[in-house]
Amino acid sequence: MDARQMKIKAAEAALDYVEDGMRLGIGTGSTAEEFVRLLAEKVATGFRIQGVPTSERTARLCLELGVPLKSLDELPELDLTVDGADEVDRKLRLIKGGGGALLREKIVAAASARMVVIADESKVVDVLGAFKLPIEINPFGQIATRIAIEKAASRLGLAGDITIRASGDGPFMTDGGHLILDASFGRIPDAEALAAELNAIPGVVEHGLFIGMSSLAIIAGPEGARVLMAA
Ligand code: A5P
Repeated sequence: MDARQMKIKAAEAALDYVEDGMRLGIGTGSTAEEFVRLLAEKVATGFRIQGVPTSERTARLCLELGVPLKSLDELPELDLTVDGADEVDRKLRLIKGGGGALLREKIVAAASARMVVIADESKVVDVLGAFKLPIEINPFGQIATRIAIEKAASRLGLAGDITIRASGDGPFMTDGGHLILDASFGRIPDAEALAAELNAIPGVVEHGLFIGMSSLAIIAGPEGARVLMAA
């Protein structure tokens, strides 16, 4: 089974959690896109959901495939969000934001009664941090914000390059008009402490640590999909 087939397996299994009539947050990334494709097939057979996309990219795919969409303002309380992740640990703490959609992803997940993560085995880790932590920042005062992040990380014994994400010749801009810093901490033994430090920095709009947001992950490997509950 190749990587794409594993993503499809995870996405298929997530469909079991989607009930007719649900208000559904729809994630961003290549795994979430497989979920959108499968969801669109169900919608075409008469299955009714109202989707709230976590990015413009996901919105475009949903519109193209006929998945009905509402804005989060129209549907501010959701039943379920299905989304991918860049890393998942045994307590279902996540790193997200590899696709740059972490702010809307977190807002949508927080508005949902439940978040189900879909991922392949390569995303499961013992300690978060091998994947560069995306941190969404306001463009104003970006250097001051980066210095504040470095100092906060250093208080927790963390160090590593923090680079601004690029796209083409310029910086990557999020759907909200912000920048992304990618922080190479390597290991983040205390994700809660780092999240609290980052939350306290005014220029940080949001960070890619999703803690306590998901109670269930569907992890697909060569043998098929398995469910991971928080340890
Ligand atoms: C998007 O901003 C991310 O949070 C994605 O959910 C994450 O990067 C996983 O993407 P893939 O499914 O493409 O690995």
